[in-house]
Amino acid sequence: TSLHPFLAALPKAEHHMHLEGSLEPELLFQLAAKNNVTLPSSTDPAFASAESLHQRYETFQNLDDFLGYYYIGMSVLVDGSDFEALAYAYFTKAASQNVRHAEVFFDPQAHTSRGVELSTIVESFKRAQARAETDFGMTTQLIMCLLRHLPLSGAVETFTQAKDDGYFADGTLAAMGMDSSEVPFPPPMWKDLYDAAKESGIRRTIHAGEEGPPLYVSQALDVLDVERIDHGVRALTEGDDILISRLASANTLLTMCPISNVKLNCIPSIALFPLRKLIAAGVRFSINSDDPAYFGGYILENYCALQESFDLGVRDWEKIAKGSIMGSWCTEERKTQLL
Ligand code: ADE
Ligand code: ZN
Repeated sequence: TSLHPFLAALPKAEHHMHLEGSLEPELLFQLAAKNNVTLPSSTDPAFASAESLHQRYETFQNLDDFLGYYYIGMSVLVDGSDFEALAYAYFTKAASQNVRHAEVFFDPQAHTSRGVELSTIVESFKRAQARAETDFGMTTQLIMCLLRHLPLSGAVETFTQAKDDGYFADGTLAAMGMDSSEVPFPPPMWKDLYDAAKESGIRRTIHAGEEGPPLYVSQALDVLDVERIDHGVRALTEGDDILISRLASANTLLTMCPISNVKLNCIPSIALFPLRKLIAAGVRFSINSDDPAYFGGYILENYCALQESFDLGVRDWEKIAKGSIMGSWCTEERKTQLL
C-alpha cells in the first residue's frame, strides 16, 4: 500500500483501453439526454440512474453480460463532439495517473451501424488526441477494432473503408485489432482480413485467451500472424507451457487487464492473476484497464490492485512500467523520451 504514490508517479504506457469502455455512467446519461437517446430503463431497472448503473456494473456474469451494457452505453455517442469529449475525458484521467503514452481501441462498427460516419468518429478522436498532446504532453495512438460477433463481411467493409480513406497510411490509425465476444469465434475465421492487413503493412493485434482457450492464442499467432495479444490470460492460467515459452521467446506483448479479468469472471480474484508466472516465464506484458468505466478502475487502480496482492518491490514495478513503454508502438525516438 505504501507503494501507491510511487505507482502513481511512475511514467506508464497503456495499450489496452477501449475508448467506449471509458464512458462513465454520468457522461452516458448526459449524452443520452442531449441526443434524445432512449435507454432501455423500462425493461432493465439498471438504466434508472447513473448510480444504479454503477451498481449493476459490479455484478457482470461474464464477457457477454458486460458487452450487452457496453453496446447500449455507447449508443449515446452521436455527434463528433460526443466522441471528442469521451476521448478527452479519458486522456485527462490517464494523464493524471502519469500515463505518458496511450494506445487506445475503438469499435467503429458499433457506431457506423447507427449511421455515424467513420470520418466523424476518427476526426473527433484526432481532435482529442491533439489536445492531449498539447495539454498533457501525452502521446496517443488509435487502434481500430473490428467486431468478431458480426459477420466477416462487415469487418472487411470497415477495414477497407479505413484503408481507402488513408487512415492507416497517414498514421491516423496505428493498428488493427479485433474484440467483442470471443467464443465461439476462433481466430481462423478472420484469416482473409488479417492477410489483407498484413499485405498492406498494417500492425495487427487481437483479443484472445480472455474467455477463449489457449488454442485461440496459438491460432492468432499461427493463422493471423498477429504481433500482439490482448489478454492471453488463459494461456497462463491453464498452464499451457509450450505456448508460454513460445510467447516468451517471440517477445510477444500480452496486454493484460487484471481488474477486468476478475470483473468478468475470467479469474476468481486478483490474487490468482498469473503475475508471478508472467515474470518467471519472461513473457512480455503490460498492465491495463480495458474498460475502466465499467470495471471501476483505471490503469493506476490495476497497478495498485496487483500490488495489494503481490507486494512487489520498486525495481519490479520499474521494470513493468518500463516494459510497457518499450512494448509500445510509438517511435523509438519517443520511447527514449519516455524512459
Ligand atoms: N470490448 C470491450 N472490452 C472488451 C473485452 N474485455 N473483451 C472483448 N471485447 C471487448
Ligand atoms: Zn479489451
